[in-house]
Amino acid sequence: MKFPKLRARRLRRKEGIRRLVRETSLSHEDLICPVFVRYGEGVIEEIPSMPGVFRYSLDKVVDEVRKIRDLGIPAIILFGIPEHKDEVGSDTWNDEGIIQKALRLIKEAVPDIYVITDVCFCEYTTHGHCGVVKDGDVENDMTLENLKKQVVSHVKNGADMVAPSGMMDGMVRAIREALDESGFYHTPIMAYSAKFASAFYGPFREAAESTPAFGDRRTYQMDPANAREALKEILLDVEEGADIVMVKPALSYLDIIYRVREATLLPVCAYNVSGEYSMIKAAGRLGWIDEKKVMWEVLTSIKRAGADMIITYFAKDVAELINRGGI
Ligand code: PBG
Repeated sequence: MKFPKLRARRLRRKEGIRRLVRETSLSHEDLICPVFVRYGEGVIEEIPSMPGVFRYSLDKVVDEVRKIRDLGIPAIILFGIPEHKDEVGSDTWNDEGIIQKALRLIKEAVPDIYVITDVCFCEYTTHGHCGVVKDGDVENDMTLENLKKQVVSHVKNGADMVAPSGMMDGMVRAIREALDESGFYHTPIMAYSAKFASAFYGPFREAAESTPAFGDRRTYQMDPANAREALKEILLDVEEGADIVMVKPALSYLDIIYRVREATLLPVCAYNVSGEYSMIKAAGRLGWIDEKKVMWEVLTSIKRAGADMIITYFAKDVAELINRGGI
């Protein structure tokens, strides 16, 4: 059948039918909300390049997590900014480290929120790289040893899931082994499997104080030009025992999300990163775009591409909007 008998617009004539034929929807269940926790007391500071996103000191973070839970968001991902940095990032495996303290407080006060920890070193090292630096580059296998200590300490202190983001070879296997050896065989791993060396991380690095002091991350994070290599990374992590795989960033990488969705049966997470957030916020503030509508469209497109869940700084905005009846 062809035009004029066939008319595609029939299914767009009224809101009722548009709702019925809608293929992709956003819900609370899609959302993971990032939370930045820092040292100090009574601190709630807005991140200048990420309006609406704040860093919280330990005494303030619980209230924020409660708000996130009350909005109906199922999960948070925690990022820490420690008081003291060192060459190897030892705060990450210290049971009195910033993340460990935050985990204990959050788990006691808001036990029903699912807490994921970002597992990396860049916020904790003096040089800002994602592991142990040797001869000007991150030494892979020494970093794996420290990753093992970090995840065991996170889970011991209450993390529900760990999310290694350092793009070290063998990190998922090393972490799985360390968790299993410590009896944490129920704890899943969400691997930042296809993480690109992206300029979209700029605002996050300001938020987390994690800008590398020298060089960049191109010896461990992926070249934005490579899609087949992303699939290779995903499949390696699946083999090593990842429970969820991630593509990061999301918006410039919808093709990768789509291909990953086709290539594995595992749940796929997409990280709608800081630069993607800040661009929309900035243009919205200037009155150049409708912030809420663009936010909705971007997140819908990430889901349409194949993501099962999205880490996004818009999580609270989206949940609020849904609670008020949607866009
Ligand atoms: C590493 C990490 C980064 C982000 C999440 N985890 C920074 C990086 O790789 O440089 C970026 C997130 C964002 O831009 O929103 N700990």
